[in-house]
Amino acid sequence: MTTSTSTAVQRATETAARNGRAAKVIVVIQQKGGAGKSTIAVNTAACAGRSAVTSGADESAGSPVVAAGIDVQGTLEKWCASVREAALPFDYVVTKSKLGILPGIVKDPERRRIIVDTPGFLDIDPDAEWGADPLGESRTADALREVLEVADLAIVPITPSKITWDECEFTIERVLKPRGIPFLVVINMHDPGKDRHEVQLDKVKAWLDERNYPRVADPIRRYTIHEHAYENGTLVTEYKMSGTALNAREDFMRVALTMEQML
Ligand SMILES: Nc1ncnc2c1ncn2[C@@H]1O[C@H](COP(=O)(O)OP(=O)(O)OP(=O)(O)O)[C@@H](O)[C@H]1O
Ligand SMILES: [Mg+2]
Repeated sequence: MTTSTSTAVQRATETAARNGRAAKVIVVIQQKGGAGKSTIAVNTAACAGRSAVTSGADESAGSPVVAAGIDVQGTLEKWCASVREAALPFDYVVTKSKLGILPGIVKDPERRRIIVDTPGFLDIDPDAEWGADPLGESRTADALREVLEVADLAIVPITPSKITWDECEFTIERVLKPRGIPFLVVINMHDPGKDRHEVQLDKVKAWLDERNYPRVADPIRRYTIHEHAYENGTLVTEYKMSGTALNAREDFMRVALTMEQML
C-alpha cells in the first residue's frame, strides 16, 4: 500500500470511529500563549454543561460535558478544583499529559462533549518541512497529537491585537488543515471601551474573512471580571448579576452555540 493510500484508509477509519461514538471532542488550540485558550475551554464547558443540566440530563450519572487539559501544569484542572462543587456544571479530568486517558473517556457512552484545553506550543520543530507535522518531540506534543487524533472540532482564539494572528494561521494551516480537523476561530479580548468604533475588531474580522476561516460572528469582549476568574475559582455561569456579567455570559454562550452548530 502506498503511503497516501494508507493515510487515506487511516483517515476513513478514524472518521468512522468518530461517527460511531456519542462523545464529540472539541480542542481549544492556538500556538500563541495567552490568547485565551483556558478561559474559553472552561467557560464554554460551563455554558454547555449548564444547558445540559437545564435540559433535564440525569444528574446522578456523570455530566455529559467533560473538560480536560493536557498540560503538565494543569491550569484547567486547578481552575475547576477551586470552583464550588455545586457551581461546576461539568466533570473534569486530570491528565498531566499522560497518554490513554482521553481516548478512554471518548468511548464512554454517557459523555457528549469533551472540551480540551491545550498549552501554547513552544516545542515546534524548526526544521519541519511544510506539510510535515511541526509539533516536535515532547511529552506534551505527544499528548497533543493524541487529542488531535480524536478531535471533531478545534476552537482557535485570536485577538484584535496582531500579536496572535501569525500563530492563528500557523495553527490552522500547519496543524489543523493537514489533519482534516474542522475549526472555528473565536475573536477574544475585544475591548468595547477602547475600541468603541470597532476599528480593530473590523480589521481582524476582515483578515479572517479573507482567508475564509469560519468564525464566531461576534467577539468575546474584554472584561476585568475574566482576569480574576482563575484565582477566584469562578465561571462565567456564576458571575454575580450585573450588566457586565450578562454580557460576559452572552459572549461564551454564543461560542457554545456556534460550536454546537458545527458539530
Ligand atoms: N475576554 C477576556 N477579558 C479579560 N481577560 C481575559 C479574557 N480572556 C482571557 N483573559 C485573561 O488573559 C490571560 C490569558 O488567558 P488564558 O490563560 O485563558 O490564555 P491561554 O491561551 O490559556 O494562555 P496559555 O497559552 O499560557 O495557556 C488570563 O489572565 C485571562 O484571565
Ligand atoms: Mg492556558
